[in-house]
Amino acid sequence: MSKVKVLVSDYISDEGIKILEKENIEVTYDYKLSREEFLNIVGEYDGIIVRSFTQLDKEALDKAEKLKVIGRAGTGYDNIDLEEASKKGIIVFNTPNGNTISAAEHTMALLLALSRNVPQASQALYNGIWDRKKYNGIELRNKTLGIIGLGRIGSRVAKYAQAFGMNVIANDPYIPLSKAENLHVKLVDFEEILRTSDFISLHTPLTDETYHILGEEEFNRMKENVRIINVARGKNIDTLALARAIKEGKVAGAALDVFEEEPLSPDHPILEFEDKVIVTCHLGGTTTEAMDNVSIAAAEQVAAVLKYGRLPEAPLNIYSIEPQVLKKAEPYLKLISKLGNFLARWKGYERISAIEIEYGGEMFSSGLKPFTATAIKEILGPVLDHRVNLVNAYIVARERGISIKESLVKKPETLSNLIRITIKTKKGEYSLTGTTLPYGDRMIGINGYRIDLNLDGSFIVAIYKDQPGVIGKIGTILGDKGVNIAYMQVGRNVDTGEAISLVQPDTIPSKEIIEEIKNELDLLDLAYIEI
Ligand code: MLT
Repeated sequence: MSKVKVLVSDYISDEGIKILEKENIEVTYDYKLSREEFLNIVGEYDGIIVRSFTQLDKEALDKAEKLKVIGRAGTGYDNIDLEEASKKGIIVFNTPNGNTISAAEHTMALLLALSRNVPQASQALYNGIWDRKKYNGIELRNKTLGIIGLGRIGSRVAKYAQAFGMNVIANDPYIPLSKAENLHVKLVDFEEILRTSDFISLHTPLTDETYHILGEEEFNRMKENVRIINVARGKNIDTLALARAIKEGKVAGAALDVFEEEPLSPDHPILEFEDKVIVTCHLGGTTTEAMDNVSIAAAEQVAAVLKYGRLPEAPLNIYSIEPQVLKKAEPYLKLISKLGNFLARWKGYERISAIEIEYGGEMFSSGLKPFTATAIKEILGPVLDHRVNLVNAYIVARERGISIKESLVKKPETLSNLIRITIKTKKGEYSLTGTTLPYGDRMIGINGYRIDLNLDGSFIVAIYKDQPGVIGKIGTILGDKGVNIAYMQVGRNVDTGEAISLVQPDTIPSKEIIEEIKNELDLLDLAYIEI
């Protein structure tokens, strides 16, 4: 078997590389590849680890034919086309915990440097200039810091700034009031941030909503002499508008770690304000500790996905289950896999037009998507010539016009937690109901017939006009060929006059035996299924 191959195309700490190598993964670590070189080799790899430099856009992903996982060693993932990766079934994850402290500390470094003109004064002294008047600063105490984006990094910055006696306010439409209250931060609207802040610090990801969140109009509405700090994403600020606002004296200064185009061009207009604008070269997450953290986290999880089929901790395009619910959910994920697998092998090859899943019980109240995605993967995976996984299950179904319906019945009429999957095909409708009990996974219904069978092993499923002798004949054929029957269940529908038999043999019957049953009996349908 050929070795799993991973490309690390941005600069990361060696700790991650060592982990990949220990896992016997073939690693190419080259952060100096040109775009052309990158595009030429990307098709060879099962996994990629990047930071923010490598652009994994549609062009790159189209060439990445073998790619199964992208690990982002860091937080922001605006360099990855998430939608395209999802369509292709590529798992994308980031490592958002690894550089929170470093990014927050760098924000504080810039906040302090900006208020006390540290880099300018240092540079002047290197040039032999001792000028205490020119580099007079301002205190942070009692100043208002407006934080835009109160996520992991924004929250940390709030704490640090409070320790300096700052009044911290924040705008973030996605966080609950209780979180801000716990941090002693006043949640305000965007306008209040602009109107009242002495310092504004950005901590939002780059999205359509946050692109140029600070532009000409916003600078106009800000308090006089406001100072801006950006350790998030360059495109969150219209940098030319910022340069104008600095020139006009509206903005007293800015400290920027990130830029609209990186590396920042040496002739960019923002660099005309040496006395007022401090710049660093995207160093927010660049500390020994953060670099090790994100490198180790990305490598461990890329290896876990590729070598052990596990899911990453912070997937960006998989329906994930909260860790505290996962333990309880795991048996039901296994159950739905088996139900889906059975249906795929039973009727998956008839053209499926709909998959409907009913979930019964409290177990499922924290969300259906991870379960449904698992079912779709199991049902469509074996019958489509396309990789179907938890990332693209819904997309694949939608693109093939297969309707997906999922519903939750809080209190099912029978057992406390159960799953019923119905598939609709060109020829008919087939359903399977299952639950999981302390002694194993059970199939408790098939096509409306109540049964109770172990949901493991192999099954002969026969549907026929209810008449004497059918079960006997199946038993005789199997017996004559030395195949022992372990379990058997029969159901019938008095309205249609049809019956169903499920036989679980102890050993696998040969194709010839199944053919013989088919030929000897006048059945409506016969299938042999192994799950
Ligand atoms: C991040 O998003 O994690 C930071 O920008 C640091 C990095 O480029 O990795």
